[in-house]
Amino acid sequence: MTDALLVETRKADPATWWRQAAVYQIYPRSFADANGDGLGDIPGIVSRVDYLDDLGIDAVWLSPFYPSALADGGYDVADYRDVDPRLGTLEDFDAMVAALHARGIRVVVDIVPNHTSDLHEWFQEALAAGRGSAARDRYIFREGSGENGELPPTDWVSVFGGPAWERVEDGQWYFHNFATEQPDLNWDNPEVREDFLTTLRFWSDRGVDGFRIDVAHMLTKDLTEPLPSRAELELIPQDGKHPLIDRDDVHEIYAEWRRVFDEYDPPRTAVAEAWVSTPERRAKYASAEGLGQAFNFDLLVADFDAGQFRSIIAENLAQSQMSGSSTTWVLSNHDVTRHATRYGLPALNGRPVKQGTEWVAAGGPEDRLDRERGRRRACAATLLLLGLPGSTYLYQGEELGLHEVAEIAPQERQDPAFFRGGEFDGLGRDGCRVPLPWTATGSSFGFGSGDAHLPQPAWFAEYAVDDEAADPASTLSLYREALRLRHRLQTDERLEWIPTGRDDVLRFERPNGWQIVANFGTEPFEIGADAEGIVLSSGTVDGRSVPGETTVWIAPAGLVG
Ligand code: GLC
Repeated sequence: MTDALLVETRKADPATWWRQAAVYQIYPRSFADANGDGLGDIPGIVSRVDYLDDLGIDAVWLSPFYPSALADGGYDVADYRDVDPRLGTLEDFDAMVAALHARGIRVVVDIVPNHTSDLHEWFQEALAAGRGSAARDRYIFREGSGENGELPPTDWVSVFGGPAWERVEDGQWYFHNFATEQPDLNWDNPEVREDFLTTLRFWSDRGVDGFRIDVAHMLTKDLTEPLPSRAELELIPQDGKHPLIDRDDVHEIYAEWRRVFDEYDPPRTAVAEAWVSTPERRAKYASAEGLGQAFNFDLLVADFDAGQFRSIIAENLAQSQMSGSSTTWVLSNHDVTRHATRYGLPALNGRPVKQGTEWVAAGGPEDRLDRERGRRRACAATLLLLGLPGSTYLYQGEELGLHEVAEIAPQERQDPAFFRGGEFDGLGRDGCRVPLPWTATGSSFGFGSGDAHLPQPAWFAEYAVDDEAADPASTLSLYREALRLRHRLQTDERLEWIPTGRDDVLRFERPNGWQIVANFGTEPFEIGADAEGIVLSSGTVDGRSVPGETTVWIAPAGLVG
């Protein structure tokens, strides 16, 4: 049965719910497959609403579910205002929103404004219409260099690796920051701007509560000739005037979007995916006149280290004061190696490391990965984050302690970053996108009645939802308990550090008396009589001490969970 406090909190404060929300990211094609075609779908999500409710999250964020050729896992959108027929229909979407809203769970959808799919009708029109046409002006077309324009306009490289320009039949070239199938839009074109306002209203009218904005820092560009070379581009500071990244003028777009969000009651929310150079620059995306919130990705690249966590926490809390927004915490998402795996690899922190000609990344050779240690540390880190002020974004599967899947054969991989040799972790991003195990046995571990679109390894059985749900000592039970209790301590967005006398132990108190103690070291940390107030722990508390690699929550005197 749903916790009464949880229901109450979810209903409370419709305008500010996002400030301290626990938002669960669903990667729809890998969540639950209702029709057995191997791809997760919207009815699959509806079938798991009880699970989401029991988990205790406040909102879900859905990665793209729009019509797409899946050249980049759905981030190549062919139609912004529809559902991929393989994933369902708009009616299914409405039913999903209704089912989630009935439990008080809010819905955030992904908007991908930097580029469309090459199958989008605009791009098809641009190809057919030819040079100089209005249809081409919605994208970034240029003549090539070289005697006959046979060379790309510049030597720029795409984020996924390989050239950032592609030649079309009549000889012109178009620009793509990501895969070839993802042509960048021209945000100087008023029609492009207008169309996204229509899209935001389309989903807002269907009851969507908020938006996650894909590569929010890349939309506007200054492509005045002569264009710089790749080497020159890399030397240009990212201070608002860089030709491609984090330009000041991008905020004009978000100011316009804010006016659309504010047409609704309650106003719609947004969170920016903005990989920018400084906290000050990130704060611009999080401003109340703009998107309102921005992801803080600092922990994605940090080690399991108390000093690093402490300075990241302090800096981001200070930054949120600057923007007036609340801060965000993220340990895993669909673009990075799962944090249980990062923390289980010796000193590599899950980053790609090349051994000879082989990438040893996520999951690497089995002998390098300590699965149990990775899971233990991951739980300690998550429990610490859930105790912090601000909102936490959780990625599907992390509540099971799930590890990255390294063992996917090249011919079964889908990520364009893997094939183009881009800057993402050496094995690409498929390993964190493998469909979830719902049952320990059965076809695709309960994901669907057929095979899953990415192969699930045999060890997925150890992380199945049905087993974990029945085990009070499982990672899932810990998440459920933490998310339930979290509503009691998330009142005021402040904390006070308490000295611990140890470099590897963090301790802080929230204004309402709750304390969090995170032991990043391996030696137990003595907390004396306070141990009696421990209501939640990511490990087994031994008498009056917090074991190594463990976080505990201590309730104020007299309050029991
Ligand atoms: C964002 C998404 C990533 C996608 C890219 C291009 O970084 O999170 O998955 O590949 O944008 O849309």
